[in-house]
Amino acid sequence: MKWFKVDDINPTDTFIKKIKADGKNICVVGYEGNIYALAARCPHAGEDLSRGWCKDGKLVCPVHRFSYSLENGRGSTGQGDYVRTYPVKISNGNISVGVSSFWQKIKGLFGPDDSLF
Ligand code: FES
Repeated sequence: MKWFKVDDINPTDTFIKKIKADGKNICVVGYEGNIYALAARCPHAGEDLSRGWCKDGKLVCPVHRFSYSLENGRGSTGQGDYVRTYPVKISNGNISVGVSSFWQKIKGLFGPDDSLF
């Protein structure tokens, strides 16, 4: 997994910031003292979720108001969709988002043993 530092953010603030990491657009969200990272493209019709807002622990799309859990990316009841989430770490006040490559995800399907690859 590669870690990408998110610049110009105070981890204690409330914010939604879009970053590009490993070719992916990711929303980094500060909400109620926690930091989350979710895919920035709304799966409903492709809107940029970084233009949305947070409510009740969810990221709300500004176009048709579909909403996605900040914790796990699941769409709200009845939507039947989700957005990918990414791990976040905070070290010395710096926020980093972890992104796995396609091959790292495939390797993860076979467990932690790297000897097969
Ligand atoms: S584009 Fe996001 S809810 Fe429709």
